[in-house]
Amino acid sequence: MKKIENILKQHDHRKERIIQILNDIQKIHNYLPKDVLQYVSRRLKLPLSEIYSIATFYAAFSLKPRGKHLVTVCMGTACHVRGAPAVLNRLEDRLGVTSGSTTQDNQFTLKTVNCLGACALAPIVVVDEEYHGQTSVNKVDRLLKTYEKEKN
Ligand code: FES
Repeated sequence: MKKIENILKQHDHRKERIIQILNDIQKIHNYLPKDVLQYVSRRLKLPLSEIYSIATFYAAFSLKPRGKHLVTVCMGTACHVRGAPAVLNRLEDRLGVTSGSTTQDNQFTLKTVNCLGACALAPIVVVDEEYHGQTSVNKVDRLLKTYEKEKN
């Protein structure tokens, strides 16, 4: 828990900084492990239930292990009518997982959302924090290759 203690120190053990603290923890683990949240709860004297309610409120936080790269497909109306379901199918085929799951090599987690607020760019796929607008089935392979290369 040394890394976690360092994060708490950087935030002066202030419970009002819990969102930033959770954000920093997630950068290390790619998700928020239960034992770490229990530790943070004890150290900040903040009820675990309060930490969980924050962690579940914000979509950016994950309580389940996540892959190195988070692939988010927008399934909102604008993206849907411009081909998002076919893009999602292609991603599921290529990664061998369904939405909400992580690949066996822990490289990718696939998920869907409803509207990212950038409908003019529909259909959109976001990998980590990078937006890929006007995407298509044909662009999926190229897109994944960019991130697959990074692991080598
Ligand atoms: S519907 Fe996809 S960004 Fe709005």
